[in-house]
Amino acid sequence: MYKVLRTVRGIDIEHCADTPPKSSSGSEPYKMDKRDIEDMPPITEHGTTVELREAFYNPHTTPDRDLTIAVLAAFDRTVDPIESYLDTFAATGIRGLRAASELKLAVTLNDRDPDATYLIRQNIALNSLESSCVVTNEDANVLLHQRRFDVVDIDPFGSPAPFLAAASRSAIRLLCITATDTAPLCGAHLNAGIRKYASVPMNNEYHAEIGVRVLMGAIARALAVQEKAMVPLLAYARRHYVRVYAKVLKSVSSADKSMQELGFIAHCRHCSFRTWAAGLAPVIHESCPVCGSRVVATGPLWLGRLHDPAFLGSVLSELIDRESDKKSIKLVEMCRDEIDAPTFYDQHKICRALKIPPVRIDAVVDKLRDFGFAASRTHFSGTSFKTDADIRVIAEILSKGR
Ligand SMILES: C[S@@+](CC[C@H](N)C(=O)[O-])C[C@H]1O[C@@H](n2cnc3c(N)ncnc32)[C@H](O)[C@@H]1O
Repeated sequence: MYKVLRTVRGIDIEHCADTPPKSSSGSEPYKMDKRDIEDMPPITEHGTTVELREAFYNPHTTPDRDLTIAVLAAFDRTVDPIESYLDTFAATGIRGLRAASELKLAVTLNDRDPDATYLIRQNIALNSLESSCVVTNEDANVLLHQRRFDVVDIDPFGSPAPFLAAASRSAIRLLCITATDTAPLCGAHLNAGIRKYASVPMNNEYHAEIGVRVLMGAIARALAVQEKAMVPLLAYARRHYVRVYAKVLKSVSSADKSMQELGFIAHCRHCSFRTWAAGLAPVIHESCPVCGSRVVATGPLWLGRLHDPAFLGSVLSELIDRESDKKSIKLVEMCRDEIDAPTFYDQHKICRALKIPPVRIDAVVDKLRDFGFAASRTHFSGTSFKTDADIRVIAEILSKGR
């Protein structure tokens, strides 16, 4: 068996790879240039240290990993105990290693790249996590079709679409899915969105939410094929990615209910009126009831809740107790407080049309509430709000009392 003994910062590393690293000839022991180790300093996140070498590592997504740890901790404590966690696209292993170290979970770390799995083994040793971590060197779809895991975490380059079917088959309790293909999801690359997600996205003022809902629609459909239902816990768009945490329920009737949450949003580009219709073949009226212009439809997408506020309360406690990144705390607070409505309104756009100056977004929310409507800020945009009032009422309220 291929075997290399190395010393990394005083720790002996035994490499028993099923597949030797790419750069090795296969017959000769792998000789790593010492500079490989010394050029890139190791990084530490919440007590877990990893060497990086050439594996993918993004320091800007540390808050996102903090959030993964808090979600897993909250799920394990308040929903279902987690017996196995698969970090399907592990790269350096940082996410899975943190789960093993901070939550004591049994973790499988997978990467298709043999250099990455070689590095992951070293990083496991560096953190003395051999007893709770297993490394696999498989294509994600092969592994996911072969094995079942309580939690499946999908964090690929670009679109998760090619992995949704296998991930939905493998996941027993929880799916964690990242998408960085925001242009296809949000309608900027229309045909790519249609190809990947079998949904027509739309590039408008609330395209970030449409992207989240298009992805959730695709996840719900992939789970339904397996007679499983998607129960959203947290779904958000941040920077250039979307992340969805969804509880998985194995039940035919729940899967049917989940499918009923799919539908279409009809939007008027002229006056910003929007409405929605559940179902995969709903009747959508072509003209806008407010201004008579033609409305355009986007979907099928998820029309149901994005978050479970009670669960997010537990996630917040975990984030605070673990002294997590403040950005994650703020994000979860915003998501917890968002009202359940399929779109949001951009105050600046409305004010431009009304030819009035915008005001503080909290003042808009308060005003809508004073008039008896449900309203909240939204994590999607600092200048936007969610409400159950329609565009005519919003315009009237925004114009009043200035
Ligand atoms: C975006 S990185 C993962 C980042 C990591 N989860 C983190 O938090 O730092 C994607 C990784 O997936 C691996 N990968 C790409 N395609 C794959 C596939 N089909 N199966 C398994 N791994 C794959 C790449 O080698 C790369 O290391």
